[in-house]
Amino acid sequence: MANEITVDVDPDLHLVTNEYNSDDWSSETTSIGSSLYRGLMENGRRYQSLKSDEYCFPADEKQFETYDAAHLAALIVDSEEENLLFQSPLIPRNVLDLGTGKGSWAIDVADMFPNATVRGVDLFPPPVSWMPPNCILEVDDVLQEWTWREKFDLIHLRIMASAFTPKETEQLMKQIYERLEPGGWIEQMEIHPTIYCDDNSIPHDNILFDIGPRFDAAANKSGKPMDLIKTMRASIEKAGFVGVREKNVKWPIGPWPRDKKLKELGLVNLHHWLTGMEGYTMYLMTRFGSPIPWSKEEVHVYNAKMRKELMNPRHHSYQRARRVWARKPFPDLKTE
Ligand SMILES: C[S@@+](CC[C@H](N)C(=O)[O-])C[C@H]1O[C@@H](n2cnc3c(N)ncnc32)[C@H](O)[C@@H]1O
Repeated sequence: MANEITVDVDPDLHLVTNEYNSDDWSSETTSIGSSLYRGLMENGRRYQSLKSDEYCFPADEKQFETYDAAHLAALIVDSEEENLLFQSPLIPRNVLDLGTGKGSWAIDVADMFPNATVRGVDLFPPPVSWMPPNCILEVDDVLQEWTWREKFDLIHLRIMASAFTPKETEQLMKQIYERLEPGGWIEQMEIHPTIYCDDNSIPHDNILFDIGPRFDAAANKSGKPMDLIKTMRASIEKAGFVGVREKNVKWPIGPWPRDKKLKELGLVNLHHWLTGMEGYTMYLMTRFGSPIPWSKEEVHVYNAKMRKELMNPRHHSYQRARRVWARKPFPDLKTE
């Protein structure tokens, strides 16, 4: 990508063992209470049961821990911004977070803007015991007709890879456009699991380079692509949004960067991968793995190999993240 920044390696990283010590980052996460809702169990993981058309990632404590790690990683990325939660330039009054997951983003936005009403919606009831009074978490399928009466001034989506077919995405974007006030903002943040390395510290045939293309192949077979990072800007533009802005970031995996912020980001992102590998792969590989769907045991073996390589402190790996934000034009002003 043009004008991108190179991440410098920390030469002083203490390499006593061949693996990062998990104690170093275990305190970064919060523990998550159990849910009252049973969902559907498969291969040891719980999935949502609201929608007959399945969603590929689990809805259970481990997965919510993974989402929290990604939430923390996103906050670290924007820690130098005045607003860590979104880049759209507004003080929102009516916010909607589509596919809210554990609801962490919606809750933080409600805390930051006490005069706003923030709705988070997901297929599975978020496992939260306390929320700010101006935050409402709801269970619904965002592809169904929306029943909210009000219009929103900010609609947010994050990590919605493999949730929708291209046609559903197009329909959803239209719905978002219609339900935003004129001048209202859409903002989407996506990451992609393809792993990159800029300094040849990872051999070309390493399994780390296998995961991205493998995910894409399985997700494409499922009909719900994972590479939104490549397509989301065009989807937003096609729906009619204007003044489109984007921010591209490398998310290091592991505390290998020299820069303090990137080191912290890498540490949290490593936790994101280690807690998330099973949940991200199990459904997709047992349904759409190549050349034929994998067994649960094959997924475990693959993940064990991945885990070993992710934990190698000599590997300077990273993945890409992209944030896009844009506004609905005012009726008499079609371009900006
Ligand atoms: C990968 S998670 C990301 C969660 C959250 N946005 C975050 O960044 O932490 C995607 C979420 O989208 C939800 N989802 C997928 N399809 C959906 C739909 N049709 N309606 C509502 N939620 C949906 C899933 O249940 C899941 O919790």
